[in-house]
Amino acid sequence: MTVKTFFIGLIASFALPWLAVVAVPYATMRAVEIPQYDLAKDGKEGAYSPVKSGFVEHGSSIYGAEGCAQCHSQLARPTYAGNDLGRPDLAGIAKDPELGDTRRESQLWDYAGEPYAWIGETRMGPDLSNYGRRMDVRAAYENKALADELGIKVDQLTQDQKFDVQKAVYLHLYDPRSENVNSICPSNKCFFETKTVYGQGARNALPGVSEVGKQVIPSSKAETLASYLLGLRRDGAVPNSMDFARNKKSSK
Ligand code: HEC
Repeated sequence: MTVKTFFIGLIASFALPWLAVVAVPYATMRAVEIPQYDLAKDGKEGAYSPVKSGFVEHGSSIYGAEGCAQCHSQLARPTYAGNDLGRPDLAGIAKDPELGDTRRESQLWDYAGEPYAWIGETRMGPDLSNYGRRMDVRAAYENKALADELGIKVDQLTQDQKFDVQKAVYLHLYDPRSENVNSICPSNKCFFETKTVYGQGARNALPGVSEVGKQVIPSSKAETLASYLLGLRRDGAVPNSMDFARNKKSSK
């Protein structure tokens, strides 16, 4: 091997990966255009701007710092890279009782306001991109089941009888095995404080986990993380160009 071929090889082995891993992604991602509504198909015009709720930025930093993204994805891959839309409820809900078929591919704006897009490293746990909406559907289901059991209507249930989404998330963070005995989701008891009960006790105390005279209360870290998790939704109306179900709708 001559010195010249050695150097050409050396430069090529750095330049080609740089081109593929840095230059091409940079060139494509900096030119991404905001999706627009189409007057003919969507009935309105303008740019798509999803609304997010909860402690997005702070919650996302805690989520990252705790390593949640090592086991949980937040990504429905583009269909050419793997068919995630076919997985039930991963990228939206196939049979959402109110919204119909909300499955769609993830896109850049889903991670708006977060310091980092936690697309995830493995799928050891369920995908969390639509967790907030899934919990809403679960609450509706649990409330209906309880109302049917008691032989009353859902709106006749008292506040205490209704499924409390927030508390369900706290319970999961405190002890994932309280719901699923085989769960390998790590418990985050350090996000909670055990305090003595005075009077009626705290409104947000976790039910059924503390000894007599004590109560377990979520710290601000648990509150922020739960708010972030419940804000993870892929249920908003999207422009027709991003809608997975558009072909089915237009053929109706
Ligand atoms: C070791 C891998 C692992 C890590 C790290 C992990 N989880 Fe999990 N998680 C799981 C598995 C597996 C499940 C499914 C079993 C269950 O429901 O408990 C799960 C379930 C969940 C669920 C319920 C999902 C659903 O659809 O019902 C939530 C919420 C959750 N994890 C949040 C978190 C948060 C927040 C963190 C970081 C603090 C985290 N997980 C870290 C493995 C992990």
